[in-house]
Amino acid sequence: MAIPNQHRVFRLPEGNISSYKQLAVKLEPLEEIDKHEVLVRIKAVALNYRDIAICNGSYPLGFKTSLVPCSDACGEVVQVGSQVKDLQVGDRVISLFMQDLLYGDIKESDSSLGGAVDGVLQEYLIFAENNVVKIPQKSTMTDSEAASLVCAGTTAWNALYGLRPLKPGQTVLAEGTGGVSIIALQIAKAAGAITIVTSSSDEKLDFVKSNYGADYTINYQTFPDWEQKVMEYTDGLGVDYVIENGGIGTIQKSVDSLAYGGIVSLIGFLATLPPDQYPNVVMLANKKSAVLRGILVGSRQMEEELVRFFVTNDIHVGVDKEFEFTDEGVLNAYEYLSSQKHIGKVCITV
Ligand SMILES: NC(=O)c1ccc[n+]([C@@H]2O[C@H](COP(=O)([O-])OP(=O)(O)OC[C@H]3O[C@@H](n4cnc5c(N)ncnc54)[C@H](OP(=O)(O)O)[C@@H]3O)[C@@H](O)[C@H]2O)c1
Repeated sequence: MAIPNQHRVFRLPEGNISSYKQLAVKLEPLEEIDKHEVLVRIKAVALNYRDIAICNGSYPLGFKTSLVPCSDACGEVVQVGSQVKDLQVGDRVISLFMQDLLYGDIKESDSSLGGAVDGVLQEYLIFAENNVVKIPQKSTMTDSEAASLVCAGTTAWNALYGLRPLKPGQTVLAEGTGGVSIIALQIAKAAGAITIVTSSSDEKLDFVKSNYGADYTINYQTFPDWEQKVMEYTDGLGVDYVIENGGIGTIQKSVDSLAYGGIVSLIGFLATLPPDQYPNVVMLANKKSAVLRGILVGSRQMEEELVRFFVTNDIHVGVDKEFEFTDEGVLNAYEYLSSQKHIGKVCITV
């Protein structure tokens, strides 16, 4: 395959960023690969809430200037460096969120793709050999489905397997019907767990019940005291795992929904509260011997485990909609994700 010397790249401008509408596509030169690197032709990009938050100024972790956004890509290896051992031209690969985090806990330096370093919203990208994970040939996943495993998928896996592995028969509560929640629901169902999903919409809850087999659903707007419903559904025992996507605005209800000794994975920041209403998180954790565990996606080892789990069980990630890699398509994809009308993942095919 002929490698072009220029390709299309979506980049944010320098200086203040207040909207994804500032994203602009440009032709940029394609660099040469090094001996330990591979060149990947990007085929699909999965969007995350983080990509919206980076553009609207609400992302708490910072990002580089003139950023190429997005962390999650699936693509085809089109060139390999002379010292690359485990990859060949034609292999299908997905990106790794935390660059060079091969195993274990996150290190101090933030090396996140599409945040600390330029991301995947471009036609080609050079990766160090270790910064991609191969998708086995037998996989029936589409490129968008595979891309969706990178951030939302690895985060959900880390929540359920990163500290204390989920067991069949345990109960998992997932907040909302976005990417992290739906993938956590898919993993938990395949692992034989009982699942509870919350949402702002009855229509979305009907969909997750019939398409993903959620065992119990709760509309958190109709039932603002949804933790009481959780207790009802679990015979007063509470859940073993909470996929905590709300943050400070939902942590009290998450712990109130928890079984003694259960794990709340602190993942999202979707629900806010005025500081004078912040709950006493120390006492909340104490009274239930709860584990409140911060998560920042996960390692390459976790992503590999997740890929194996999805491929072995032939699970297809819940992708809601795909958009085109054009000015209009990319803006529409960002707008659709921002509208929170989606269930699962929103992707861009390149
Ligand atoms: N720490 C990490 O490593 C990590 C990794 C990935 C994502 N995240 C964070 O996790 C959160 C979810 O990410 P995502 O990419 O899955 O988002 P997403 O796909 O955009 O999903 C957002 C969904 O969350 C639900 N939601 C909105 N406000 C809510 C609230 N106040 N309480 C409960 N649910 C609410 C809505 O679903 P309904 O309409 O059904 O309620 C909404 O559609 C974000 O804050 C994101 O930044 C963190």
